[in-house]
Amino acid sequence: MENEKFVDQDFLENINPAVREMSAYHVGGGQTADVKLNQNESPYDLPAWLKLEILNEFYKESWNRYPDVFPSQAIERYARFLGVPKERVIMGNGSNELIYAIGLATLRRGASALIPSPSFSLYEKVATLLEADVIKVAMTANLDFQVKEIIEEAERSRPNLIVLSTANNPTSKSLAIEDIEDIVASARALVLVDEAYIEFSKQQSALKLIERYSNVMVLRTFSKAFGLAGLRIGFLIANAQLASELLKPKIPFATNRLAEIATIKLLDNYHVVQNVVSSILQERERLYGELQSIKTIKTHESDSNFFIIAVDNPTRVFAELKAKGVLARDVSGYPLMEKCLRVNVGTREENDRFLSALKEAVSR
Ligand SMILES: Cc1ncc(COP(=O)(O)O)c(C=O)c1O
Repeated sequence: MENEKFVDQDFLENINPAVREMSAYHVGGGQTADVKLNQNESPYDLPAWLKLEILNEFYKESWNRYPDVFPSQAIERYARFLGVPKERVIMGNGSNELIYAIGLATLRRGASALIPSPSFSLYEKVATLLEADVIKVAMTANLDFQVKEIIEEAERSRPNLIVLSTANNPTSKSLAIEDIEDIVASARALVLVDEAYIEFSKQQSALKLIERYSNVMVLRTFSKAFGLAGLRIGFLIANAQLASELLKPKIPFATNRLAEIATIKLLDNYHVVQNVVSSILQERERLYGELQSIKTIKTHESDSNFFIIAVDNPTRVFAELKAKGVLARDVSGYPLMEKCLRVNVGTREENDRFLSALKEAVSR
């Protein structure tokens, strides 16, 4: 970089030390590949006719005008889809933006967040940025949640926020609704239930808990089953009073009109999502059977659109898959996952390419 030499060390001292110590978000292995299975995306783009409908609507918009400060049309449509009052719904620029908003609303120096470990890295990053303490409760060796330990730790350390990602990224294991309810009912904390993968899950959503418990927040995304990772759409659902607080630290105008239009159109054509989910679930079953038949690896059962496999040498297997055009995620840096790779379910053809590259890599 040409002007790097002009950066004076003294100026960098003005950067928040919590920021200086952390590294930027990084997608290991990059974001392009013939067979891209590393970001838990849907392998299916929206059908062309639906994209055109969305674009035609977007074309009619005045691009010189700000969008709605809080996108009321998409919020109303999503609230109707879920069957909840619109006052409970917040829309974000992807659920990542909402995780930041929740952090800003609940954490600060002296506050704490309880996060099962390993879990989605952004929760800890936001807590660290805000100088809050992070209390981790380890999963079991088989990567399952330890519910009793979570409840006991919450009782002991009184966190402000508990984050439950279910199905959890990167483990793909879920909590049963009864377990979530036990945590919610016993904790004095706000409980964020991140349901990024709920459409693929055998478990029930925590949405109904919002009726009975005022400390529950449910996070949803359009980046996985809904196939719109590129448009950045996420939603947060909580009781109206809590939602009105969580709205305050949000970046104004963070959701653009394209995202708002796409939300409405996709929900009006929800069969598109249902078809995608049923294809992915079918492939998940097939892939699970195939992976289980490979005796030199361990395959964890998946309650999401991705698998965790444990192999002897994850770095070598990752590299060999990559050399064959198959991009997996090396998650071996996470605690309890030293041998693990993460691979999302692709199309049938992509899964076949992955399987044959994997078989070759682990046969050596
Ligand atoms: C558990 C979990 N939450 C949130 C996200 C972020 O989703 P979004 O694209 O809506 O920001 C991801 C993405 O991988 C995820 O795995």
